[in-house]
Amino acid sequence: MKKPKVLITRKIASEAVDLLQQTAEVEVWEEDRPMPRDVFLAKAEEATAILSMLTEKVDEEVLARAKQLRMVANMAVGYDNIDVSACKKRGIIVTNTPDVLTEATADLAFALLLAAARRIPEANRFVLEGKWTSWSPTLLAGQSVYQTTLGIIGMGRIGEAVAMRAKGFAMNILYHNRSRKQEAEEQTGAVWVELDTLLRESDHVVLLTPLTAETRLLMGEREFARMKQTSVFVNVSRGGTVDEQALYRALAEKQIWAAGLDVFQEEPVSPNHPLLQLPNVVALPHIGSATIQARTEMARLAAANIASVLAGGEPLTAL
Ligand code: DGY
Repeated sequence: MKKPKVLITRKIASEAVDLLQQTAEVEVWEEDRPMPRDVFLAKAEEATAILSMLTEKVDEEVLARAKQLRMVANMAVGYDNIDVSACKKRGIIVTNTPDVLTEATADLAFALLLAAARRIPEANRFVLEGKWTSWSPTLLAGQSVYQTTLGIIGMGRIGEAVAMRAKGFAMNILYHNRSRKQEAEEQTGAVWVELDTLLRESDHVVLLTPLTAETRLLMGEREFARMKQTSVFVNVSRGGTVDEQALYRALAEKQIWAAGLDVFQEEPVSPNHPLLQLPNVVALPHIGSATIQARTEMARLAAANIASVLAGGEPLTAL
């Protein structure tokens, strides 16, 4: 019998590839850059399953050509790169990789908060550039994090994990989410509030909501204007949730203190992007889940989803 074909769009942990090779003919895009679109379209035509990254747009154009396709296993918890309803209409299963990246991503959100509040990259550059001539009482003074109020927008698994870290910093926690999270409230003392209240009362704000039609450009001029002048804004969700021009103005005009950004509207972000010219921006290249452990588990889970479906079973983490 002909083996099913699995397309893996980037080099991933070898155990994930090995698992799939037991039952499928596997093709891995080994280059350390995303597949060019035309190559992806051509290879998708042959695929029974695609193990995709967030760099691949799986849309109508792909689906119209991928006649053999039975499933798309996205190696990410976010799936805004996939037209899920178009997949469902065609009976194509879509899976993501929740849970295995929660703690790594929460760590990074907290790292960005601390880095931006305490001006760590700026201080690091200061030392490396030989500017440190003496201790000074005002040198690179930042904002407190301990015992302040943290506002979490988007209280999913990662939001809850950030709240647990905030508890260790004796922070008051406010959150805004479509639904109330009883367990998180009990575990961390987090309090649900309207978005405007969160923006007004939080000392720092972490944005973790997925990118959907409702959350696109959620943070704009109006929202930044409500935040405190001493507040740090952290985005570990998707760049599309933030109006970057409004954020630039808020930072440049000192309406808010600083921003820690792991995601951008266009990725990779250009080094000439206005936001990157500001000293109070800490910018990272979308590495929220980038620990070796989390990325290995994400690859394994994505592969296990495909293996299960190819063996006639249920996907483990279907959307
Ligand atoms: C995700 O999983 O959605 C992250 O953004 C990438 O790890």
